Amino acid sequence: MEISKDQIVDLMMGFFKTKTLTAAFDLGLFDAMAEGPASLEDICARANAPVASGKRMLIALHAMGLLQREGDAYSLAPGAAPYLVSQSPQWLGWLGRHIDAFLYPLWSYTAQAVRDDKDQREAVFGDKRSWFDILYQNPSDVTDFQEFLGIFAKPFIDGMVEGVDFSAYSRFMDIGSGVGSLPVAVAEACPHLEIAICELPKAACYVRDKIMSGEFADRIDVVEGDVIAGTIPQQEYDLIHLGWMLHDYAPDTQLQILRNIYDALPAGGVFMASETPLDEDESGPLFTSLLSINMLVSTDGGVESTAQQYMQRFEEAGFSNVRVLRINGPRTLFVGEKV
Ligand SMILES: C[S@@+](CC[C@H](N)C(=O)[O-])C[C@H]1O[C@@H](n2cnc3c(N)ncnc32)[C@H](O)[C@@H]1O
Repeated sequence: MEISKDQIVDLMMGFFKTKTLTAAFDLGLFDAMAEGPASLEDICARANAPVASGKRMLIALHAMGLLQREGDAYSLAPGAAPYLVSQSPQWLGWLGRHIDAFLYPLWSYTAQAVRDDKDQREAVFGDKRSWFDILYQNPSDVTDFQEFLGIFAKPFIDGMVEGVDFSAYSRFMDIGSGVGSLPVAVAEACPHLEIAICELPKAACYVRDKIMSGEFADRIDVVEGDVIAGTIPQQEYDLIHLGWMLHDYAPDTQLQILRNIYDALPAGGVFMASETPLDEDESGPLFTSLLSINMLVSTDGGVESTAQQYMQRFEEAGFSNVRVLRINGPRTLFVGEKV
């Protein structure tokens, strides 16, 4: 089917919607409707916005399908509140702030990133440090990043906890655990397992606070470590998982990470990595293909790969019986064994 001019224009103007939405989160417009229908004047007063400009936002948000309107009263569209109201555990405002502070500025340099075949952090932030050093310089940025990733990860975590036979293992370590929701879900489902989270120092501080104030403070250990440097617990965990992290790094670094994990496993140990790979013929999927551009503009050489490419790196790092374990949800789970 031929593509139309309107489709192309719609793709080009997509950022209008992105920025209207992130601005609405920033202004607190959705929270101003959390208690139910409210007038334009009340919403603008609660959001501390002038009525004239606030009205433009409400008209656009209504046209985007996020609000409904009855007479003079605006309210959140059915089903929208859990994602739009900041008191909800599924609030997507975390993602809005991460987009405004990091992704949108970096994506402004996409053409230059392609020309340079390199991230654009220095152009945007005037800073030569690594992606995670820049991302983690403010605790509030750590929170934004980890909280929205935790929401993204939920369907994968449900699939992994249901689809992996954890009874075969006694000690489980999740490296780069982020918000820590996978170890918490595994702790809930598998009372016999000893569990650890291994994270970069700033992320470890954040997740330690969460774990310490939760139900599994006695069962989940939080340790600082860097899987690229190889400073992770050695020979202690017979199951290690790494989620959505290989794609943050260049293929050579991925290989180093895989080798370090191989070395850290005891003989007989198993490693699992969850990723969202490209199709084998590199025709998509759309989200992964765009994520690969996101990796280009932001990270230290990060790139999306096909399942075969991931499995080849596993084998190069020394893993045996490398395979995909089918689980429900949005991610592919790669498995390798240390014999
Ligand atoms: C994209 S997030 C993924 C979070 C979570 N595992 C998931 O599956 O959604 C990558 C995580 O890896 C951690 N990380 C990045 N580089 C690391 C390193 N060199 N050593 C240990 N953790 C690292 C980051 O702090 C971050 O929490």
